[in-house]
Amino acid sequence: MFQTDDTLQLLSRIPEWATGAVYQIVVPSYLDTNGDGLGDLRGIISRLDYLKWLGVHAIWLSPIHPSPMLDLGYDVADYRDINPPFGTLADFDELMSEAHRRNLHVLMDFVPNHTSDQHPWFKSSRSSRTDLRRDWYLWRDPAPGGGPPNNWTNQYEQSDWTWDAATGQYYMHSFMPEQPDLNWWNPEVRAAMWDVLRFWLDRGVDGFRIDAMVHLYKDPRLRDNPVADDSSADLWPAWNMLPAFSQDVGGLQDILRELCAVVREYPGRILIGENHLPPERLPLYYCAGLSHPANSQLLELDWDPLKIQRMIAYYEGILSADQWPNWILGSHDNTRIAGHLGPERARVAAMLHLTLRGTPIMYYGEELGMHNIDIPPERERDQLALRLPGKGRGRDPQRTPMQWSEAPNAGFTTGESWLPIADDFQQINVETQQADASSMLNLYQRLLAKRAESKALRLGYYTPDFADGRVLSYVRETKDERLLIALNFTAEPVEFQPKAGAGRIILSSYAVAPVDQRNGRIALRAYEGQIISVM
Ligand code: GLC
Repeated sequence: MFQTDDTLQLLSRIPEWATGAVYQIVVPSYLDTNGDGLGDLRGIISRLDYLKWLGVHAIWLSPIHPSPMLDLGYDVADYRDINPPFGTLADFDELMSEAHRRNLHVLMDFVPNHTSDQHPWFKSSRSSRTDLRRDWYLWRDPAPGGGPPNNWTNQYEQSDWTWDAATGQYYMHSFMPEQPDLNWWNPEVRAAMWDVLRFWLDRGVDGFRIDAMVHLYKDPRLRDNPVADDSSADLWPAWNMLPAFSQDVGGLQDILRELCAVVREYPGRILIGENHLPPERLPLYYCAGLSHPANSQLLELDWDPLKIQRMIAYYEGILSADQWPNWILGSHDNTRIAGHLGPERARVAAMLHLTLRGTPIMYYGEELGMHNIDIPPERERDQLALRLPGKGRGRDPQRTPMQWSEAPNAGFTTGESWLPIADDFQQINVETQQADASSMLNLYQRLLAKRAESKALRLGYYTPDFADGRVLSYVRETKDERLLIALNFTAEPVEFQPKAGAGRIILSSYAVAPVDQRNGRIALRAYEGQIISVM
């Protein structure tokens, strides 16, 4: 038992709201208020009361800038405006003030690695070798024997280099050719991007999610990436290359330190850094100044309590006292958790996610148990599906519209939805689930409410308690409160003896909690999770 209450020391780097749940919104899929089939900012404004009721502390918006939308807006054509289908700067300002009035915080997606090829900077850069912006992007001559300057490849299974016949050089792109990488060695680029940050910080945004963070800095000599044998775990992009010289390259920290210094000009803001690195790489990113270097380990969760216990222990073990953890269960790039695990296990995963130490980063619709849906080929929008047909890599299945009600189109739009809507929306929707005490939505709401009222759940230490092939349990505690979280990973009832002892059940994932546990043993129903006060 702890004698001192030093949990708050952990918060030296972040405002307390940023220990609460962050809720990712794919803006075109949230709520459409003008009938064009795409979600918009006014739709989000009209659902702020819902988000407040749910109990999240912040929302993170997918990119909302003018864009050809080849990559869900991660192809920005103007960093200082709003894409007209989503609304206007006035709508954005209203969203900020309405959110803040409710004590909800707003994070934007910041896409610093690349622009759209339609951005005026790139249009000017590609116009001639002597253009003032030529060096804002990465232009290189062919390799000595001809062909691309190096062997780097992207997730689209193509070279990172595209030939520009008009000016006789290649330009570099970590993603699609329509997303040229900015040259972060150029101080003018840095200055321009810091001004972009200030533009939005001045409008009151509470922080950013930094897209494709590990790509920003490349090996200055642009050396070939090493070719790996097939047994390597870190292959990129899933064939035979180790991204040693193109991702997470030493030098990146310096750029991020500058970026963090800009954001620190505005107190109380946070930064989530997108990466899919092994956890032992993350402390470096905290040191660069990020509050939330993304921890992606739950995204491909192995349904094994012992493995999960080890994973948590490893992550907890590498973080120092002022490095606050975070956990991501779903995202626009990954199979939805309820698709990956099925509805019952997804409830257990929700309990895990919302009771671990660290900021839970949620994905819209997770709270309903929305799952991936099959997209007919003619309705696919993601270029990963369109450019690599038949490979199953498209991300539209996890980006479909939010399901609000039993109304036509799940209450998402009165027009024709940009992506298909799940067939089972009449069961899986906000209105229906709000009325059902045993629904996934009410489980999320109860868990988030419990987090808000319990300092142990929000900030307390994590201690492993027990794990075997069926059960995982752990303790979260402060000096005044000690909670045991017990999760049954199986479809069978289980009983086990926790080290922490039994106690009073304060939350069950079932709508009706069982009577209190007796004789120091804990009984869990199929896929049941419990929070037990063991003070
Ligand atoms: C990030 C985004 C992904 C996008 C890529 C390029 O990984 O999460 O959706 O395709 O960056 O911007």
